Amino acid sequence: MTTGKKLLITAGPTREAIDPVRFLSNRSSGKMGYALAEAAVRAGYAVTLVSGPVALPRPDGLAEFVSVVSAAEMADAVKSRFSSADGAILCAAVADYRPVAVSPQKIKKQEGNWLLELERTEDILAALGRMKQPRQILAGFAAETEDLEANALAKLSRKNLDWIVANRVDRPDRGFLSDDNAATLFGAHGEVKEFPLMSKKALAKNLISAIFG
Ligand code: PMT
Repeated sequence: MTTGKKLLITAGPTREAIDPVRFLSNRSSGKMGYALAEAAVRAGYAVTLVSGPVALPRPDGLAEFVSVVSAAEMADAVKSRFSSADGAILCAAVADYRPVAVSPQKIKKQEGNWLLELERTEDILAALGRMKQPRQILAGFAAETEDLEANALAKLSRKNLDWIVANRVDRPDRGFLSDDNAATLFGAHGEVKEFPLMSKKALAKNLISAIFG
């Protein structure tokens, strides 16, 4: 059974090149975002999955799979597809900073310390919040190690979201890399839903149904 609706989902980390062999990245495995994509396909949505570099098999049944590496590539892929989507949930752990300059050659080690200058990447979720039309539902994640609720609610309102999934990322049994996760879902109209520790697949199913109905 299909819903006739299109969802855009992001997953995984981004990589920001320093030189041809080095990059800045993070510990995202893509498991949470891929579980969301699988759950959305199963719930009958036409799903576009935009993924950073991960070691996971591509979910079956996607309408489109877009493989990206950097935050800038993810921003292009997501922003160009958002207007035709009915909703989006951004789960990717996008780098907030990238090196100002990418060396075309492998940087040689030298005596002393190395200072790497970084610049901000685009906040993709905030850009979608500015583009959002009333018919679209926009959800993001907040990966937090402290003040979970306050930080998540600040992101919900600053980025003009309908929903935010607050995710503790300071424990080994949840968050980055693990097979399980727990979250609190906050809505723009004051809704609060707690999801205790469970498999990322089970959490994904709950989130897709709570956010997109
Ligand atoms: O991939 P796994 O190993 O399964 O781990 C899952 C997860 C911990 C990565 C996932 O559950 C999660 O919390 N994802 C959000 C990670 C993150 O970058 O959170 P943030 O609080 O820094 O960002 C807030 C939101 O803005 C997120 O929806 C993020 O996708 C988005 N963002 C952030 C920066 C940026 N430049 N552009 C963005 O769109």
